[in-house]
Amino acid sequence: MKKTILTGLRPTGNLHLGHYFGAGQNYLKLQDDYDFYLEIADVQGLTDNFNNPEKVRLNTKEITMDLLSIGLDPEKVNFFVQSRIPEIAELTVFYSNLVTVSRLQRNPTVKSEIAQKKELFGNSGESITYGFLGYPVSQAADITCFDGELVPVGDDQLPLLEQCREIVRKFNNIYGETLKEPEPVLSKTTRVKGLDGNEKMGKSLGNAIYLVDDNETIKKKVMGAVTDPKKIKKDDPADPEVCMVYYYHKLIDNPNLDTVCSECKKGARGCVACKKELIDKINDFLKPIKERRKKYEDNPELVDKILSDGSIKAKIKAKEQIKKVKKAMKIDY
Ligand code: TRP
Ligand code: SF4
Repeated sequence: MKKTILTGLRPTGNLHLGHYFGAGQNYLKLQDDYDFYLEIADVQGLTDNFNNPEKVRLNTKEITMDLLSIGLDPEKVNFFVQSRIPEIAELTVFYSNLVTVSRLQRNPTVKSEIAQKKELFGNSGESITYGFLGYPVSQAADITCFDGELVPVGDDQLPLLEQCREIVRKFNNIYGETLKEPEPVLSKTTRVKGLDGNEKMGKSLGNAIYLVDDNETIKKKVMGAVTDPKKIKKDDPADPEVCMVYYYHKLIDNPNLDTVCSECKKGARGCVACKKELIDKINDFLKPIKERRKKYEDNPELVDKILSDGSIKAKIKAKEQIKKVKKAMKIDY
């Protein structure tokens, strides 16, 4: 029997290289050996974007196309949409008794997301909704609804997984052994820096390269990337370790990396030429991804079918699971 993997993504924007190296690559490796459920977490996406439903709707399809374009095989990975599985919402209500408000407020992921919101919008704490504060509970429901044993996540999500494990233990303690305690699977690269040197790539930071970016956009972004500030003239020697262009040469595995490094150190390489080489390499890297994506863009009904079929399969599993849970809680009418 294959072990079950569950992971989710909020459909709030397209995937960028940070997602690819931080998560996608890991999914590609895992898809052969596990029973893999991949949730497009639209309900969770709405906790942040409840006033922008079009964005979540549009990105549900966009993100699915992005995931297919990197080479995830819908025969191996069961794509499904969170809102199509109301059992998850039911579990969320049941689990909400098993977690205190102060525990949620102390959750480091929730805390840092609240801090980010304040930074972006200058909002005070009162603007945090019940739904947002409770999303770790809903995420525990996502995982346990499918008996997820392994959960591939970035390190920023570990506190959410710990919260899920606590809920599972508490549930099993009170209602009897019913749920499985999930384990995280961390990717080799968990965080990819932005072109500006920021610790994280992100849409709001404008420092990310998206899988769907066209050549012009990539060119503009790479040309603006942060290099060694001490290098003024073309033939000044520089330190590649402080240069984001070098960081990206490394990230996308440029076979020419040693040359980039030694020429940079010797002052035998200008930054403009170095950036041009990176642009070419990024384009080469994205070419097969874009080709795969085109098939889905030209046949959007294929994407709808993948999500429908996957959601039907997920529903079967969710129904079994909710039956078990309700029985344990003595509400199995
Ligand atoms: N919270 C995750 C994120 O923002 C997305 C997510 C939703 C998820 N449900 C999940 C991740 C279940 C792992 C397991 O990226
Ligand atoms: Fe960075 Fe390349 Fe310029 Fe060196 S030559 S500082 S690696 S862009």
